Amino acid sequence: MIEIKNLSKSYVRPDGSSVSVLKDISLTVPDRSITAVVGPSGAGKSTLSKCISLLERPSEGSILVNGKDLSNLSGENLRKERRAIGTIFQSSALLHRKTAAQNIALPLEYLGVVKSDIDRRVKELLEAVSLSDRGNYYPSQLSGGQQQRVGIARALALHPQVLLSDEATSGLDPQSTQTILRLLRKLRDEFDLSIILITHEMDVVRNIADSIAAIRDGVIVEQGRVQDLVSNPNSQIGRQLISLKVADAFNNRHLVAELTYGDNVPSDWSQILSRQLNVNVHLLGANIEQIGEKSFYGRALVGFEFLDLNHVDILVISKALQLIGLHAEFKNDTDFNRRVAV
Ligand SMILES: Nc1ncnc2c1ncn2[C@@H]1O[C@H](COP(=O)(O)OP(=O)(O)OP(=O)(O)O)[C@@H](O)[C@H]1O
Ligand SMILES: [Mg+2]
Repeated sequence: MIEIKNLSKSYVRPDGSSVSVLKDISLTVPDRSITAVVGPSGAGKSTLSKCISLLERPSEGSILVNGKDLSNLSGENLRKERRAIGTIFQSSALLHRKTAAQNIALPLEYLGVVKSDIDRRVKELLEAVSLSDRGNYYPSQLSGGQQQRVGIARALALHPQVLLSDEATSGLDPQSTQTILRLLRKLRDEFDLSIILITHEMDVVRNIADSIAAIRDGVIVEQGRVQDLVSNPNSQIGRQLISLKVADAFNNRHLVAELTYGDNVPSDWSQILSRQLNVNVHLLGANIEQIGEKSFYGRALVGFEFLDLNHVDILVISKALQLIGLHAEFKNDTDFNRRVAV
């Protein structure tokens, strides 16, 4: 787990005046969890990344890894404890005269680990990033996505608890980006990692982050778990996430519906629907409101994943929804809605 507490960072300009780039940033990333830090250019994301990896010293605040404060260490102590944080740099950070395996071995060689142990660890790491057959390739012989996987393997070499990535997928095509993100999710679970993904593109991280923090002008303007953000109608990130997810659902030919329900609806309604209709039901967004002491009503935006929307029998779906007390408003295009109305 990593805890960033009340972190501020100011730089001194050449004329002696100081400029405050980060203001009172607090962020906790538990084990086995991915937090995305998103924000526009100049927001302070890379500065935050440098402070977290202690390449820059915070002006105020602390960085705790598993309860241990790294922000006031220096010298040998800092070098030692900093190993708990692995950093993925942009792909260009690989040494081009060394092979993939030699690049991954670098942090181990630097520590003076014996050759046979290095070889064993490098083999493990190549396996972890699915590049066992590419160890002897030079960076120029690897695709951008493969180079980035080598970078990830190198970041993992010293068994870090935290993995930090600043725009690690920028410059990659959408497919390689998705491969990298899926890999990070796998590594999160395999090694119980706390992962911090820094990016200016929300749509890059929406499917992989457990939590999101939005930063603007050096301040966190919103943060929370993805599931809480999408169910909070006042959350700007939540609304952005929902519209991205809905766009995805339309692209993948899902039937999208807004469902309204009261407290007589079974709590496992989505599983019931999925079973009855034999489809996957994806929750895109939800909002539950309490009325009085006990009763509540909820609204949920869902996507029904059908193989072929043209053969969907809307009456069957409406009936199934009605039977468990759900009212639906379908959101697909007018063509589809016309069929629905028939
Ligand atoms: N060493 C420095 N001295 C003075 N100001 C700096 C320094 N490093 C960064 N800044 C300023 O801090 C602000 C945030 O920069 P930073 O690189 O953290 O932004 P960013 O969110 O990573 O942007 P991008 O998305 O473009 O990478 C900028 O206004 C930048 O000019
Ligand atoms: Mg940056």
